[in-house]
Amino acid sequence: MAEQYEIIDHIHDVIVVGAGGAGLRATLGMGAAGLKTACITKVFPTRSHTVAAQGGIGAALGNMQEDNWHWHMYDTVKGSDWLGDQDAIEYMCKEAIPAVYELESFGVPFSRTEDGKIYQRPFGGHMRDYGKAPVERACAAADRTGHAILHTLYQQCLKHEAEFFVEYFALDMIMDDDGACRGVIAWNLADGTLHRFIADMTVMATGGYGRSYFSCTSAHTCTGDGNAMVARAGLPLQDMEFVQFHPTGIYGSGCLITEGARGEGGYLTNSEGDAFMERYAPTAKDLASRDVVSRSMTVEIREGRGVGAQNDYIHLHLEHLGADVLHQRLPGITETARIFSGVDATKEPIPVLPTVHYNMGGIPTNYHGEVIRPTVENPDAIVPGLMAIGECASVSVHGANRLGTNSLLDIVVFGRAAALRAAEVVDSGAGARPIKGGDRGQMGIDRLERLRTADGSLGTSEIRLNMQRVMQNNAAVFRTSEVLAEGCEQVKEIAGTLKDIKVTDHSLIWNSDLAEALELENLMACSLTTIISGEARHESRGAHAHEDYPDRDDENWMKHSLAHMDKDMNITLSYRPVHTYTLSDEIDYIEPAARVY
Ligand code: FUM
Repeated sequence: MAEQYEIIDHIHDVIVVGAGGAGLRATLGMGAAGLKTACITKVFPTRSHTVAAQGGIGAALGNMQEDNWHWHMYDTVKGSDWLGDQDAIEYMCKEAIPAVYELESFGVPFSRTEDGKIYQRPFGGHMRDYGKAPVERACAAADRTGHAILHTLYQQCLKHEAEFFVEYFALDMIMDDDGACRGVIAWNLADGTLHRFIADMTVMATGGYGRSYFSCTSAHTCTGDGNAMVARAGLPLQDMEFVQFHPTGIYGSGCLITEGARGEGGYLTNSEGDAFMERYAPTAKDLASRDVVSRSMTVEIREGRGVGAQNDYIHLHLEHLGADVLHQRLPGITETARIFSGVDATKEPIPVLPTVHYNMGGIPTNYHGEVIRPTVENPDAIVPGLMAIGECASVSVHGANRLGTNSLLDIVVFGRAAALRAAEVVDSGAGARPIKGGDRGQMGIDRLERLRTADGSLGTSEIRLNMQRVMQNNAAVFRTSEVLAEGCEQVKEIAGTLKDIKVTDHSLIWNSDLAEALELENLMACSLTTIISGEARHESRGAHAHEDYPDRDDENWMKHSLAHMDKDMNITLSYRPVHTYTLSDEIDYIEPAARVY
């Protein structure tokens, strides 16, 4: 029998969905600007996945040696394999420096140099003087930088009058008849009530969808909720085929061992004890860009030089750094290695494998965080009332491959940018104006009710595992036309089995069975758009390494893919041009070039 839902209405100027670093930075900026702000989050803010970011936040402070934001921009454009929008990259790299000093003033406990400056370490793809030699640019709080930033931002939010709605699961967006977003409908996990959050501006800050894959460094909560809400509202998702594999996930568990470990001098070897990165990236070696290192490791394993009984992993050596350095600079990963691989990193190498870590694609936005819905007349047309920031967004500053430390940077720079923009365009009290038509959240309520009463034959975990296995095998570090085409058919077939899902607990209170079913639908939208966009891209660029098309093809493919999903989860694709211009005349557009490290 259909549940009679009581709906509680809330009116705000701005609502932010998600309380990771991006959501909190936006929330605090919007609150500080005097906007009536709500932050809705399915987990307690300081449990958001930002807490797991380890190695650092990128900014050309030049504390260790000469550095400048032009070099940071060059590295980011090169890292993105020229798919990034250079206006947005310029904005991010230039704003990085004040953003890190702002975090310092908020109270982030950065590690320090002898003379008291913020400590910076080398990271993959961070180079000095336009690619000449590695540079120390990652501003670190030991190997717990995300933890330090997230807690500090939450404390700052509490100073302003933002209202937090904790353990509320956003179901769907509320769109009006003019195509503007007017808020979200959400389910309070604790008491089963439904809440309609109406606002003038809605900001998606829901993180990535690493859990589309079997092995990832992402928390179980990284289920692409914002991406899926946007797709169900008929808006496109951009560049979903670009999924980053981090070179050093722990073999078996997938737990992250920070790239900062290689920044501090760690290196990789194969079964012959060969430090093989010298052959693949003679200048940067183990600190080449992540896609390059992950591919090199995969080649070593494929050619029979993997370590272990199955020759299926690689060794990461830190033991030569000594216990003092490990305990001072890398205490977290030393403990992680002990717990998850039984290894004492001060004495022996850690078994590692490339593991899904980050989604470069997501909800397309401009550098103010405003969501884009390209039209024939205007490829940069914005969706009124909607912003996206952080990993769920595709600004696009990461293009086809993100540089390590640019994710923490992205969340604070664009969280702040969204707040600045909202302060300009949102009139206090405008959230209260009537909603013009639309379904006022009924689609989300119907979805909740359909899943709550779903009485099929397949459990959520069974369908999810089927999907994760196909994504892991068919949308991997290396891809071929045949494997991608097979993967598309298989994911479509598995998506079809959602009709036969079974949810055993029918309650609306603390029902994790129902929450996971909702999350699975969200993941499925992300998986479909990822593999279908990947199958269509006939070139190799950044993280998309297509063995049938091994070269980058700027003539035909220097464009963003846009995946559109209909109500039956059918996907169609279109494209929009990459921005080939910068924001100011302080720096010129960086012309495409061969990408060697
Ligand atoms: O390796 C790491 O510490 C991860 C950093 C990042 O993804 O930016």
